[in-house]
Amino acid sequence: VLDRWLAGRGLFVVTTPRVLALHGAAIGPLRAAAVRCRVIEVEEGEAAKTPASAARLWREMLAAGGRRDSRLVCFGGGSVGDLGGFVAGCFLRGVEYAQLPTTLLAQADAAIGGKTAVDLPEGKNAVGLFHQPALVVGEAAFLATLPPEELRSGLAEVIKVAALLDLELLARLEADLPRLLAGEPGALGPAVAAAAAAKARLVVEDPHDRGRRALLNLGHTLGHALEAALGYRDLRHGDAVAYGLLFALRLSQRRGLDAAFAERLRRLVGRLGLPPLPAVEPAALVALMARDKKAREAGLDWILLAAPGQGTVAGDVGVAEIAEELRRFAPDPFAAGRRV
Ligand SMILES: NC(=O)c1ccc[n+]([C@@H]2O[C@H](COP(=O)([O-])OP(=O)(O)OC[C@H]3O[C@@H](n4cnc5c(N)ncnc54)[C@H](O)[C@@H]3O)[C@@H](O)[C@H]2O)c1
Ligand SMILES: [Zn+2]
Repeated sequence: VLDRWLAGRGLFVVTTPRVLALHGAAIGPLRAAAVRCRVIEVEEGEAAKTPASAARLWREMLAAGGRRDSRLVCFGGGSVGDLGGFVAGCFLRGVEYAQLPTTLLAQADAAIGGKTAVDLPEGKNAVGLFHQPALVVGEAAFLATLPPEELRSGLAEVIKVAALLDLELLARLEADLPRLLAGEPGALGPAVAAAAAAKARLVVEDPHDRGRRALLNLGHTLGHALEAALGYRDLRHGDAVAYGLLFALRLSQRRGLDAAFAERLRRLVGRLGLPPLPAVEPAALVALMARDKKAREAGLDWILLAAPGQGTVAGDVGVAEIAEELRRFAPDPFAAGRRV
């Protein structure tokens, strides 16, 4: 499919040195299909998602003869996907792009749905746009070289999707977690496919995040604040989301989520083997959350779980409650929440 899309076009491939070293051979057919191909490397991980790297890419693309009908391929994890999609969406007011995701997180989640962005010190994904990829190609073979911590981080988003949208997938994750963490293709394939399909259904229903798609932000209000507070180091995105999910469970339980279901999710997240939660000043987190993209003039909506497989938007979560729960949460993120 990529061949036909690339025929007669100039191509830019955005990737990282690690992905290029491990899987660079996959670019061969793309190079052959396009009339010209330029590979642009960016930094590994979240460090690539800056306005400065976007500007560097635009300038390189112009210098290399990039045009309105040029094509861009994001070849890497979610960081490359978010940056490359943003670069494609703005370059000469928008060129078509494709996602060729190479991490579990990107195949199951980030490559789907057209959300693109770069970070600012003030906020994760603070500058970006919706720009749907023309194609998303999920290639299972890429996952074979992922280190365990990247598998774990990706599985956190898969757990999130399962808790919200697919309880069968949740049961499968519980049964298969050791095989998933070990990167067994027979376990990863169906889990990635199910998570990607569940997300795609929501995106089709609500492409611009005005309604039910917002449920996918479960765990991200605190998760993004943690990432920003830590300068986008120290905690992978999926790990931050896992902690965000645990925190959202506490708020959910206060609003009536069944304690047994909350405990079931806490146990599953506990089995991921997350790195410890770094110490972060609660006041800094609250300030970052107040600046969250999801914040409106009226206040911040929290995505919570109302019941197994059922997300909800809570508009009644005040700053005082957040600060109080954060004080209880930080010393022991896995402790049971309570109903009040
Ligand atoms: N746009 C969305 O809807 C959306 C959804 C979820 C997450 N995200 C974003 O995705 C980003 C996280 O993406 P990620 O978890 O894929 O991490 P990542 O893109 O930062 O990649 C992590 C590291 O793994 C390396 N890597 C990539 N593929 C590899 C492979 N096959 N084998 C070995 N190493 C490989 C990368 O080069 C990088 O060094 C965050 O910025 C997050 O905000 C976006
Ligand atoms: Zn995410």
